[in-house]
Order: sequence, then structure tokens, then C-alpha cells
Amino acid sequence: MKILVLGGDGFCGWPTALRLSARGHDVTIADNLSRRAIDKELGCESLTPIAEIPERLSAWHSVTGKSIRFVHLDIAQDYDGLLDLILEEVPAALVHFAEQRSAPYSMKSSRHKRYTVDNNINATNNVLAAVVESGLDVHIVHLGTMGVYGYKTPGLTIPEGYLSATLTDDSGASVKTEILYPTNPGSIYHMTKSQDQLLFAYYAKNDGLRITDLHQGIVWGTQTAETTLDDRLINRFDYDGDYGTVLNRFLVQAAVGHPLTVHGSGGQTRAFIHLQDSVRCIELAVSNPPKRHSRVAIFNQMTETHRVVDLATMISTMTGAEIRHVKNPRNEADTNELTVANLGLRSLGLVPTTLDAALLREITEIAQRFASRCDPAKIPCVSLWTTDAAGNCTAPVGAKLAAA
Ligand SMILES: NC(=O)c1ccc[n+]([C@@H]2O[C@H](COP(=O)([O-])OP(=O)(O)OC[C@H]3O[C@@H](n4cnc5c(N)ncnc54)[C@H](O)[C@@H]3O)[C@@H](O)[C@H]2O)c1
Repeated sequence: MKILVLGGDGFCGWPTALRLSARGHDVTIADNLSRRAIDKELGCESLTPIAEIPERLSAWHSVTGKSIRFVHLDIAQDYDGLLDLILEEVPAALVHFAEQRSAPYSMKSSRHKRYTVDNNINATNNVLAAVVESGLDVHIVHLGTMGVYGYKTPGLTIPEGYLSATLTDDSGASVKTEILYPTNPGSIYHMTKSQDQLLFAYYAKNDGLRITDLHQGIVWGTQTAETTLDDRLINRFDYDGDYGTVLNRFLVQAAVGHPLTVHGSGGQTRAFIHLQDSVRCIELAVSNPPKRHSRVAIFNQMTETHRVVDLATMISTMTGAEIRHVKNPRNEADTNELTVANLGLRSLGLVPTTLDAALLREITEIAQRFASRCDPAKIPCVSLWTTDAAGNCTAPVGAKLAAA
């Protein structure tokens, strides 16, 4: 199958492109390399030494004999370039990763808020409009986030995108319906993903596009079967306060002897998925397109939920690292429950990688191996959600919590 991978130089996009190519698909990556530019803006680098795109692609060819094409393209700004690419490639599927994906980065300043909205919403609308204008039947697979649901669940399991609701009409009669689960974004980044959902619903209804939206949990891990084939294929690993996701940050903190920084009490419950499973889910989604003119297919792409403090305790037990509770820079509840339905992808064949099984390998093979590349000054989360959150987010919040 011919597949376009938009944002295929990124943390999830690169291993997905390799996996699809390894499975015999004809893959083209389009990326504007903005994530590498943001590394320079933030003065930070991936913990793992990632090769430049030409070296990545020639390594893949020399190791497997397979070719992946690369197109340098900004899909949010260069609509004509995107349309030409779709017309030239005639892909059966397109996987859309090409968005600014850090919540803390999106909250740094008004410039970062405006960039995230401009980039993400234009990117998604351009993809949808270009597929319509091309007249081709392209299945669009998008990486969304569990964060669109918000983290307050009123005692119910979060369904896969749609909520069954009973409404009362004007005559007092009950009407059963299904609605998009009400969004409750916690940052500008999450807000753009909520807006993406509406764009998808509209284009599926109006133009009959085939769309799969994967509401992904926090991805952890670094490598997949394909990225381990050669050091030049190594995947990105972000550990800094803006782009590092919570579990990967704990792994690096443990490896460099930095305390594990837990925001507030650490009672926030979040959904997680290993990178290897994320890539597998995308492959399953690509192979199972919804019918034309059906509603958007939404899957919750996650395998486990954990409280942040429990993750820190697990890693502390394995490594002896100290746990430090710091003030939470985010505007969010200190504790929450989270129960999530994920039968959709499991019924398509996903067999989850569990945290206990893979955590130790990740610590030794990645975090400890590349610990000397870590700049500890980049570890603290310094992006604040509101001016009320101002204060030292690196200092312990007090003896009471520290002892919790
Ligand atoms: N990493 C996670 O834990 C996670 C969790 C849930 C959802 N997601 C979603 O998965 C997708 C990929 O995330 P990631 O972690 O790989 O992020 P990433 O930043 O590593 O990769 C995104 C890629 O898209 C490219 N890009 C951004 N804007 C572009 C544009 N306008 N034109 C062309 N290319 C552009 C970037 O250069 C980068 O290579 C994102 O949409 C993100 O919201 C990620």
C-alpha cells in the first residue's frame, strides 16, 4: 500500500514509517523539520543522538534494502505543495503526526500559543481540504490525544470517542442519541486536538472522507524492533521540561542521579502506551479503514493507566532514586481517577507491552547508556499554565508532601 507519513521525522512518526516500510508498504515521509528547529530554540537535544534525515534514510536502505522517500514540506503553510504531493503519490492512506505536540511548549507565551493553534489547526484542515480537492479516496489516520476528554471522569469509563446520551425533547419525551464525548482540554495544545475532532466530524459528514482518529495516551519507551537495527536509526528521546513525557523523564532522572520530580501529590492518573504498541496500533488502523460516508472511527490508543506518584515509586524501587514533590506548573486537579475503554484496538489484535516487562530494559539500554548527553539544567518544567502558578516549580513543596 502507498502511505504518506506526515511528521515522519518525529518521535512517533519515524518508528511508524520504518514499521510500515518493513511490512512492505511504499512509504513517503513529509516533514518540515520544525521539531529539530524547536530543539535549537530550547537549547536542548534528544538524549539519544538522532541522525539527520539523509543518514537515517540511507541507513534504512543499507540495512533492509528498502527505500523511503523524504519531502521537506510545511503542511500548515504550503497547501499547494501538500496537494501536489497527494496527487503525485496517490496514497491509499495518510498518517498525520505533523503537529506541535507539547502541552508545556504551547503554554510558554502568547507566541507559542499562537504558533501551536496556527500550525496544528491549519495542518489538519489543509490535509482534509487537500484530500477532498484531490478527489482521491485516501484513508486519513490521525494521532489525537486522550487529553481531549479531560481528566475528570464522573464515575464512568471513558468511551472510545462517542457518548451515548438520553436527552429530553420539548414534549418531555426521552430521545436516545450518541454525541462526541464533550471535550475538556487542559492546555492550548489539547484545545487544538479538540478542534481537530470537529474538523474530522465535519469532513466525514460533508465529504464522506474515511478518517480514523487515534486518541493516544502518553507514549513511553524509545526504540522499536526496526529502530534497533542500526544506531543510525535510533529514535528521539525527549527528557526536557517541555517535550519530555512523564515516564521518560523519570527514567533519565534516575539514570543521572536527579530526584524524580513529581508535580504536587502525584495523584494525577494518566493513560500510557509503549512506543512499540503505538506503532502496532497505527499499522492496525491503517489496515482497517472505516467505510466512506461513515462517522469518524475513534479508538483510545492506550494500554494502562497509572498515578504519577506510583510510577515514580516503581522507578525509585528499581533504581534507588529519591522522589521529590514540586509545585505543579499546570492548572489541573491534584488527583483524579481515570478508567478508559480500549477494546477497539485490542479486538483488532493489539497485545499490550506492560510497564513491568519493559521498564528495566529502557533504563539500562537507553537512559543509562546516554546519560552523559543529559543536561540536568533542562530537566525542570518551567512553562507555567497561569500567572498564579508562578513560584519555584523545582523546589520541594514541603516536608508533608515529601514524606507522602
Ligand atoms: N508523544 C506522545 O506521548 C504523544 C501522545 C499522544 C499523542 N501524540 C500525538 O502524536 C503526534 C506525533 O507526536 P510526536 O511525539 O511524534 O511529536 P514530534 O514533535 O516528535 O513529531 C512531530 C513531527 O511533525 C513535524 N511537524 C510539525 N508541524 C509540521 C508541519 N506544519 N508540517 C510538516 N511537519 C510538521 C515535526 O517536525 C516533527 O517531526 C502528535 O500529533 C501528537 O499530538 C503524541
